[in-house]
Amino acid sequence: MALPKTNPTTTQAWNKLLAHYKNTKDNHLRELFAEDSDRGKKFTLLWNDFLVDYSKNRITQETLSLLLQLADEVGLKEAISGYYEGALINQTEGRAVLHTALRAKKDDKVYVDGQNVIPEVYEVKEKIKAFSGSIISGEKKGYTNKAFTDVVNIGIGGSDLGPAMVTEALKFYKNHLKTHFVSNVDGDHVREIVKELNPETTLFVIVSKTFTTQETLSNALTIKKWFLNAASEKDIAKHFAAVSTNTKKIKEFGIDNENVFPMWDWVGGRFSLWSAVGLSIALAVGADNFDELLSGANEMDVHFKETPFSENIPVILALLSVWYNNFYGAETEAIIPYTQYLSRFSAYLQQGIMESNGKSVDRSGNRTGYETGTIIWGEPGTNSQHAFFQLIHQGTKLIPTDFIGFKESLHGETDHHNKLMANFFAQTEALMNGKTADEVKEELEKQNLSEEELQALLPFKIFEGNKPTNTILIKKLTARTLGSLISLYEHKIFIQGIIWNIFSYDQWGVELGKQLAKNILSDIENSDIGKHDSSTLNLLHFFKN
Ligand code: F6P
Repeated sequence: MALPKTNPTTTQAWNKLLAHYKNTKDNHLRELFAEDSDRGKKFTLLWNDFLVDYSKNRITQETLSLLLQLADEVGLKEAISGYYEGALINQTEGRAVLHTALRAKKDDKVYVDGQNVIPEVYEVKEKIKAFSGSIISGEKKGYTNKAFTDVVNIGIGGSDLGPAMVTEALKFYKNHLKTHFVSNVDGDHVREIVKELNPETTLFVIVSKTFTTQETLSNALTIKKWFLNAASEKDIAKHFAAVSTNTKKIKEFGIDNENVFPMWDWVGGRFSLWSAVGLSIALAVGADNFDELLSGANEMDVHFKETPFSENIPVILALLSVWYNNFYGAETEAIIPYTQYLSRFSAYLQQGIMESNGKSVDRSGNRTGYETGTIIWGEPGTNSQHAFFQLIHQGTKLIPTDFIGFKESLHGETDHHNKLMANFFAQTEALMNGKTADEVKEELEKQNLSEEELQALLPFKIFEGNKPTNTILIKKLTARTLGSLISLYEHKIFIQGIIWNIFSYDQWGVELGKQLAKNILSDIENSDIGKHDSSTLNLLHFFKN
């Protein structure tokens, strides 16, 4: 099944949304809440341990109905079937997109080229379990017969960001193994990491879907050299593992067959943490927690697949994002987790969302002519409040923001958690309500200011409010709820790609820079510099001399 090729702007819903936008764009959230005391509940979804409150958005029931109509008109339902059933929806690379199969139940059946891939997925899961178990327990030892103390994940992009984000997010559940991530081709990065390591007790996991990525191979070779300063060639078998589709290249690197973990071309790099790419997650928190992560993701997969769109969390969040991106002209979205554990969550989603939906050519090969992928950014609250929230509150840009918080703190620091969550709730309320001139005046009048002083200060203290937010409130940060949360955003990516009529699962845009870097590397390493524009030439001369 090929994906439909509907230009969203030609649908009836789009045109109705345009008119609806003109009629409602000046509505203030404060008024919408005043008109309907039940608004909070009406626009809230409850699912498992999640509460998703999307009431603080510039929408009415009519907005929602029109957005849902848009989803129907672009064929979202049929597209979801294709997505789950292994249709080649990554059309420009001729591949299926089946990260959902990686967390499917054991008796599920998902076919690729007529073959059910679930038994193979479970075989690899068993291998991850056995391998990580034997490293954690100390049964598998290093070349001097010492148990492992450190794990280094060598990878970049999807082969780094997912595992790095999840191991940080699940730090509370971590065992004694210290995990490190080397990604940048910057030699100072790898040097800073190995500086603290003991080769006798360190396990290296090379993760590269293609096993051709310059950064990863350079880092792997540098680390291999560093390791061989202390150990011998035969010891590589004990200290290096690899995850890749490219088994030939892994062999050439000298990695023992027993430590080779396959992956499949129907899993995109940025959606691969659920596969053996997540080996360092299993090593850090154990295979049971890794399983829980997958189960949580699977629960969200089932919710997305089976729930009517009007109560479907990924669908609602994706449609709201389209509403701001395409009708309000909002260019960015902030994602603010109120837990330090999710400090890498926005960085992780930047790849997921921006590499997927940063496209300007539609599924028919034409320029879209309308906006597509949003810019994603964010940092944990409350730090972000003391950094960039000023701009969200009083700047000129509209920045729809997701607030992610948890009912329980993991260490049980109730006093801290209450303060943290007080900020969490206060921010969305403040962003929604703002502060009117009358309210500011009343406040200033209590400060014994002269009328002149009061009038001078007044305009700066007004908050327009009407800033849209979603609140995702989750019972507790566990491997399971984290799996559901990540899966939620993955599906949001898919839905938006369908609506924008683009291919979300290729990444040709990353290629050009890679190709040019190869040529420039030879300019740097050889005496002659090839043909370049005058700026690049000047820069290269300055760098070389
Ligand atoms: O950034 C481009 C990209 O191809 C990503 O999609 C991928 O996650 C990353 O490079 C790493 O690729 P590989 O796993 O093949 O080394």
